[in-house]
Amino acid sequence: MTRKFDFLVLGSGIAGITFALKAAKFGKVALLCKTTLSESNTSFAQGGIATVMYEPDNFEKHIEDTLIAGDGHCNLAAVEKVIREAPAAIEDLLSFGVDFDKQKNGHFDLHREGGHSEFRILHHKDNTGFEIQESLVRQVKAHPEIEVFEYHFAIEILTQHHLGEWITHHTPNIECYGAYVLDQQTNQIHTFLSKVTLLATGGIGNVYLTTTNPGIATGDGIAMAHRARAIVKDMEFVQFHPTALYHPGEKPSFLITEAIRGYGAVLRTLNGKEFMLKYDERGSLAPRDIVARAIDNEMKIRGDNFVYLDVTQKDAQTTKREFPTIYKKCLELGIDITKDYIPVTPTQHYLCGGVEVDLNARTSINRLYAVGECSCTGLHGANRLASNSLLEAVVYANAAVNDASKQLDMLNFVDKIPDWNDEGTSLPEEMVLITQSFREVEQIMSTYVGIVRSNLRLKRAIHRLEILYRETENLFEKSVVSREICELRNVISIAYLIIKQALLRKESRGLHYTVDYPERMKKETHR
Ligand code: FAD
Ligand code: SIN
Repeated sequence: MTRKFDFLVLGSGIAGITFALKAAKFGKVALLCKTTLSESNTSFAQGGIATVMYEPDNFEKHIEDTLIAGDGHCNLAAVEKVIREAPAAIEDLLSFGVDFDKQKNGHFDLHREGGHSEFRILHHKDNTGFEIQESLVRQVKAHPEIEVFEYHFAIEILTQHHLGEWITHHTPNIECYGAYVLDQQTNQIHTFLSKVTLLATGGIGNVYLTTTNPGIATGDGIAMAHRARAIVKDMEFVQFHPTALYHPGEKPSFLITEAIRGYGAVLRTLNGKEFMLKYDERGSLAPRDIVARAIDNEMKIRGDNFVYLDVTQKDAQTTKREFPTIYKKCLELGIDITKDYIPVTPTQHYLCGGVEVDLNARTSINRLYAVGECSCTGLHGANRLASNSLLEAVVYANAAVNDASKQLDMLNFVDKIPDWNDEGTSLPEEMVLITQSFREVEQIMSTYVGIVRSNLRLKRAIHRLEILYRETENLFEKSVVSREICELRNVISIAYLIIKQALLRKESRGLHYTVDYPERMKKETHR
């Protein structure tokens, strides 16, 4: 079946929904997600959303903090844009019904996180993302111009390639006409034609063995864009959150928000000693890349699997009130955070790179925009400052709608796209071929492409991956399309892009640390 919409939105996190709500003023919107409307990285966000609110804070300080965290690799125009447009983005969220905590005097209650020189994190207790996601979902469900498609998995974006043209990375003016989409409830593949398509497919966490991301985060949008020959950049900058709860076997890993360190919690080795000041004068509140590397180093030196986060010195009632989700989760595991240290370990959390976009969220493919974690605006540079990503998504969703709505009248549907061709395919004989290959990708990435890298490990990783790539492409050719095989293809593409771009960077910068080139070069070796 072929469906036609002015705007095709792939993803229902903060990026996709804020875009959809605004785009619906200009035309008909299809909003797709691969499971439920609510399952997203957005729902899992704890700490909050950064914005300059009250004196003594100001835009310059937030810009400076973002640039310092980004380690010389930020796009200054993107940084200025996001931070100066933050108050308007927050107004949008408030107008969609999002409730941020306030103090008794009516002022917003602001938290502070690593790398921030001021208290500027708006939050809803310690489950800000859930509050944002559910408020946005309520708006979408009530909107007459937005048609929602749950359990619809985007397989490929449509370009001139699907009209039979030969496309390379050098082909000028590639255009996007929509996407092939698998309805997972009927197993049918539909053609969604659009005038404008938005990638808002989120992160890549499941490329790694442990991650704070939910199961939907398999980098589908980035992989699709890469196959369609869009520019994808900065993939080597994978962010590991320093403090995920150490609870082996649990996926996703439960996050212990950085805001708890802003509140006063400190990191300790298993013998109870504070160690962060050895690494950085900002101690436990240094930017994430530094804290994660310091923990990794302490664990390696001491042969430990985790370190402790200690919040026991703070007032117990306040801790319970400010961090109720963390308190409850830890208590279920027998840890009373008001009395006991919390075992934590660094875990994959976020991707700074993605599909390259300009200040209007345009990708290098015409009619294709990308917003949120799947995009690379240059805001985060080589390391994202905490709580800047929810903000980036709202600001760039606005930019994308403003830009796309101006073009809408000049664009037509491209009707000649053929239906998906599944001739000669059959169900895979053994699902284990897919599940085991997926596990191997996770193993390769966690073992060889983690917080500290080396040429030897990266090269070994890419050799192993090449075998998996060949086997999987072979299987894909012969198989009836399923979400599982598509996700496997996508994680292999993402792993490949991370390793390839890591190998090109012959220096250590931000989240990319390699023992072969431990110094940061004055002039970057790879941009
Ligand atoms: P997501 O919210 O992940 O949404 C992705 C959507 O894409 C989903 O609807 C999914 O179904 C859909 N999708 C994916 N692939 C397909 C496909 N093939 N077909 C159809 N649909 C598809 N950031 C902050 O700024 N502050 C925080 O406090 C914070 N805390 C965090 C805590 C945790 C535990 C995590 C995991 C992240 C946190 N982040 C935080 C990061 C932030 O939450 C994410 O970067 C952001 O929410 C990403 O939003 P998004 O809309 O781009 O993607
Ligand atoms: C956290 O709450 O520590 C996560 C914040 C973020 O990822 O921005």
